[in-house]
Amino acid sequence: MKLYHAPASPFVRKVMVLLHEAGAADRVTLVPALGNPLDPGTIPVDRNPLGKIPALEREDGPTLYDSRVITRYLDDLLGAGLYPPAPRLWDTLVIEATGDGIAEAAVLMRYEMHVRPEATRSPDWAEAQWQKIARALDALEERWTSHLSGPLDMGQIAVGAALGYLDFRLAQRDWRAAHPGLAVWYAAFVARPAMQATAPTA
Ligand code: BEZ
Repeated sequence: MKLYHAPASPFVRKVMVLLHEAGAADRVTLVPALGNPLDPGTIPVDRNPLGKIPALEREDGPTLYDSRVITRYLDDLLGAGLYPPAPRLWDTLVIEATGDGIAEAAVLMRYEMHVRPEATRSPDWAEAQWQKIARALDALEERWTSHLSGPLDMGQIAVGAALGYLDFRLAQRDWRAAHPGLAVWYAAFVARPAMQATAPTA
Protein backbone atom coordinates (compact mmCIF):
# COMPACT_ATOMS: atom_id res chain seq x y z
CA MET A 1 0.00 0.00 0.00
CA LYS A 2 1.12 3.57 -0.67
CA LEU A 3 0.30 6.35 1.76
CA TYR A 4 0.45 9.91 0.40
CA HIS A 5 2.13 11.65 3.27
CA ALA A 6 3.33 14.99 4.68
CA PRO A 7 5.14 14.99 8.04
CA ALA A 8 3.34 18.13 9.31
CA SER A 9 -0.22 16.90 8.65
CA PRO A 10 -2.20 15.93 11.78
CA PHE A 11 -4.48 13.78 9.59
CA VAL A 12 -1.53 11.84 8.19
CA ARG A 13 -0.27 11.51 11.76
CA LYS A 14 -3.50 9.77 12.86
CA VAL A 15 -2.89 7.09 10.23
CA MET A 16 0.80 6.77 11.13
CA VAL A 17 0.07 6.44 14.86
CA LEU A 18 -2.46 3.68 14.12
CA LEU A 19 0.14 1.86 12.00
CA HIS A 20 2.80 2.14 14.71
CA GLU A 21 0.39 1.06 17.45
CA ALA A 22 -0.56 -1.97 15.34
CA GLY A 23 3.12 -2.81 14.63
CA ALA A 24 2.42 -2.38 10.91
CA ALA A 25 4.36 0.73 9.86
CA ASP A 26 6.26 -1.42 7.37
CA ARG A 27 3.01 -2.31 5.54
CA VAL A 28 2.90 1.08 3.77
CA THR A 29 5.30 2.93 1.48
CA LEU A 30 5.27 6.65 2.23
CA VAL A 31 4.93 8.91 -0.82
CA PRO A 32 5.72 12.59 -0.12
CA ALA A 33 2.81 14.83 -1.15
CA LEU A 34 2.77 18.55 -0.51
CA GLY A 35 0.16 21.10 -1.53
CA ASN A 36 -2.41 23.55 -0.24
CA PRO A 37 -5.85 24.89 -1.22
CA LEU A 38 -4.27 27.35 -3.69
CA ASP A 39 -1.95 24.82 -5.32
CA PRO A 40 -2.37 21.02 -5.08
CA GLY A 41 1.37 20.68 -5.76
CA THR A 42 2.31 16.99 -5.60
CA ILE A 43 -0.94 15.86 -3.97
CA PRO A 44 -2.36 13.16 -6.30
CA VAL A 45 -5.64 14.78 -7.42
CA ASP A 46 -6.18 11.85 -9.78
CA ARG A 47 -6.32 9.65 -6.64
CA ASN A 48 -8.20 12.08 -4.37
CA PRO A 49 -10.14 14.68 -6.38
CA LEU A 50 -10.45 16.78 -3.20
CA GLY A 51 -6.69 17.36 -3.31
CA LYS A 52 -6.10 16.32 0.29
CA ILE A 53 -3.85 13.95 2.18
CA PRO A 54 -3.72 11.35 3.56
CA ALA A 55 -4.77 9.12 0.68
CA LEU A 56 -4.15 5.36 0.77
CA GLU A 57 -3.53 3.58 -2.52
CA ARG A 58 -4.46 -0.10 -2.32
CA GLU A 59 -3.53 -3.00 -4.58
CA ASP A 60 -7.07 -4.40 -4.58
CA GLY A 61 -9.43 -1.41 -4.69
CA PRO A 62 -9.87 2.31 -5.18
CA THR A 63 -7.70 4.76 -3.27
CA LEU A 64 -9.15 5.55 0.15
CA TYR A 65 -9.60 9.00 1.69
CA ASP A 66 -10.14 10.83 4.07
CA SER A 67 -8.27 9.99 7.29
CA ARG A 68 -11.38 8.57 9.01
CA VAL A 69 -12.05 6.18 6.13
CA ILE A 70 -8.39 5.13 6.06
CA THR A 71 -8.25 4.50 9.82
CA ARG A 72 -11.47 2.44 9.72
CA TYR A 73 -10.03 0.41 6.83
CA LEU A 74 -6.65 -0.18 8.48
CA ASP A 75 -8.23 -0.98 11.83
CA ASP A 76 -10.32 -3.67 10.10
CA LEU A 77 -7.43 -4.97 7.96
CA LEU A 78 -4.95 -5.16 10.85
CA GLY A 79 -7.39 -6.15 13.60
CA ALA A 80 -6.09 -3.21 15.62
CA GLY A 81 -9.22 -2.90 17.80
CA LEU A 82 -9.13 0.89 17.89
CA TYR A 83 -12.88 1.19 17.23
CA PRO A 84 -14.60 -0.54 20.17
CA PRO A 85 -18.05 -2.13 19.89
CA ALA A 86 -21.15 0.04 20.42
CA PRO A 87 -22.22 1.71 22.61
CA ARG A 88 -18.64 2.86 23.46
CA LEU A 89 -18.08 3.28 19.71
CA TRP A 90 -20.34 6.37 19.63
CA ASP A 91 -18.14 8.12 22.20
CA THR A 92 -14.99 7.12 20.32
CA LEU A 93 -16.38 8.50 17.06
CA VAL A 94 -17.52 11.81 18.51
CA ILE A 95 -14.13 12.27 20.20
CA GLU A 96 -12.41 11.44 16.90
CA ALA A 97 -14.63 14.01 15.14
CA THR A 98 -13.77 16.57 17.82
CA GLY A 99 -10.03 15.96 17.40
CA ASP A 100 -10.35 16.15 13.63
CA GLY A 101 -12.38 19.37 13.89
CA ILE A 102 -9.66 20.97 16.04
CA ALA A 103 -7.01 19.92 13.52
CA GLU A 104 -9.09 21.13 10.58
CA ALA A 105 -9.67 24.57 12.11
CA ALA A 106 -5.96 24.84 13.03
CA VAL A 107 -4.85 23.93 9.49
CA LEU A 108 -7.30 26.51 8.08
CA MET A 109 -5.78 29.15 10.39
CA ARG A 110 -2.35 28.19 9.13
CA TYR A 111 -3.46 28.51 5.50
CA GLU A 112 -5.20 31.82 6.17
CA MET A 113 -2.22 33.46 7.83
CA HIS A 114 0.63 31.89 5.84
CA VAL A 115 -0.65 30.71 2.45
CA ARG A 116 -3.35 33.19 1.43
CA PRO A 117 -1.86 36.33 -0.16
CA GLU A 118 -1.25 38.90 2.60
CA ALA A 119 -3.61 41.53 1.18
CA THR A 120 -6.63 39.19 1.38
CA ARG A 121 -5.98 37.64 4.81
CA SER A 122 -8.72 37.97 7.41
CA PRO A 123 -7.59 37.98 11.06
CA ASP A 124 -11.30 37.91 12.09
CA TRP A 125 -11.88 34.72 10.10
CA ALA A 126 -8.75 33.15 11.62
CA GLU A 127 -9.94 34.17 15.10
CA ALA A 128 -13.33 32.53 14.44
CA GLN A 129 -11.46 29.29 13.70
CA TRP A 130 -9.66 29.64 17.02
CA GLN A 131 -13.00 30.10 18.83
CA LYS A 132 -14.11 26.78 17.35
CA ILE A 133 -10.91 25.15 18.65
CA ALA A 134 -11.34 26.73 22.10
CA ARG A 135 -14.92 25.41 22.38
CA ALA A 136 -13.84 21.92 21.31
CA LEU A 137 -10.97 21.95 23.86
CA ASP A 138 -13.49 22.99 26.55
CA ALA A 139 -15.74 20.05 25.60
CA LEU A 140 -12.82 17.59 25.81
CA GLU A 141 -11.79 19.02 29.19
CA GLU A 142 -15.31 19.02 30.66
CA ARG A 143 -16.80 15.86 29.16
CA TRP A 144 -14.22 13.44 27.85
CA THR A 145 -11.13 13.18 30.10
CA SER A 146 -12.42 9.94 31.61
CA HIS A 147 -12.86 8.34 28.16
CA LEU A 148 -9.46 9.69 27.07
CA SER A 149 -7.88 7.87 30.01
CA GLY A 150 -9.53 4.55 29.07
CA PRO A 151 -8.34 1.85 26.64
CA LEU A 152 -6.54 3.20 23.57
CA ASP A 153 -8.85 4.07 20.67
CA MET A 154 -9.01 6.27 17.58
CA GLY A 155 -10.66 9.08 19.52
CA GLN A 156 -7.57 9.41 21.68
CA ILE A 157 -5.27 9.21 18.66
CA ALA A 158 -7.19 11.97 16.83
CA VAL A 159 -7.07 14.24 19.88
CA GLY A 160 -3.36 13.48 20.38
CA ALA A 161 -2.61 14.36 16.75
CA ALA A 162 -4.66 17.58 16.99
CA LEU A 163 -2.96 18.75 20.21
CA GLY A 164 0.43 17.93 18.69
CA TYR A 165 -0.45 20.15 15.73
CA LEU A 166 -1.49 23.01 18.05
CA ASP A 167 1.93 22.76 19.73
CA PHE A 168 3.62 22.63 16.32
CA ARG A 169 1.89 25.54 14.57
CA LEU A 170 -0.04 27.53 17.20
CA ALA A 171 2.12 27.21 20.33
CA GLN A 172 1.65 30.92 21.13
CA ARG A 173 -2.06 30.25 21.80
CA ASP A 174 -1.06 28.14 24.84
CA TRP A 175 -4.01 25.70 24.75
CA ARG A 176 -2.84 24.17 28.06
CA ALA A 177 -3.55 27.31 30.12
CA ALA A 178 -7.35 26.82 30.23
CA HIS A 179 -7.29 23.00 29.90
CA PRO A 180 -5.19 21.55 32.73
CA GLY A 181 -6.83 18.10 32.68
CA LEU A 182 -6.22 17.74 28.97
CA ALA A 183 -2.63 18.94 29.44
CA VAL A 184 -1.98 16.18 32.02
CA TRP A 185 -3.55 13.56 29.75
CA TYR A 186 -1.54 14.74 26.71
CA ALA A 187 1.78 14.74 28.61
CA ALA A 188 1.36 10.98 29.14
CA PHE A 189 -0.13 10.29 25.72
CA VAL A 190 2.61 12.04 23.74
CA ALA A 191 5.22 9.85 25.47
CA ARG A 192 3.86 6.75 23.68
CA PRO A 193 6.44 5.39 21.22
CA ALA A 194 3.90 5.74 18.36
CA MET A 195 3.52 9.46 19.09
CA GLN A 196 7.26 9.95 19.51
CA ALA A 197 7.89 8.23 16.14
CA THR A 198 5.45 10.56 14.36
CA ALA A 199 6.20 14.02 15.76
CA PRO A 200 5.40 16.68 13.13
CA THR A 201 8.20 18.25 11.14
CA ALA A 202 8.08 20.98 8.48
C1 BEZ B 1 1.45 22.29 7.70
O1 BEZ B 1 2.56 22.51 7.20
O2 BEZ B 1 1.07 22.87 8.71
C2 BEZ B 1 0.58 21.26 7.02
C3 BEZ B 1 1.10 20.50 5.98
C4 BEZ B 1 0.29 19.55 5.37
C5 BEZ B 1 -1.02 19.37 5.79
C6 BEZ B 1 -1.52 20.13 6.84
C7 BEZ B 1 -0.72 21.08 7.45
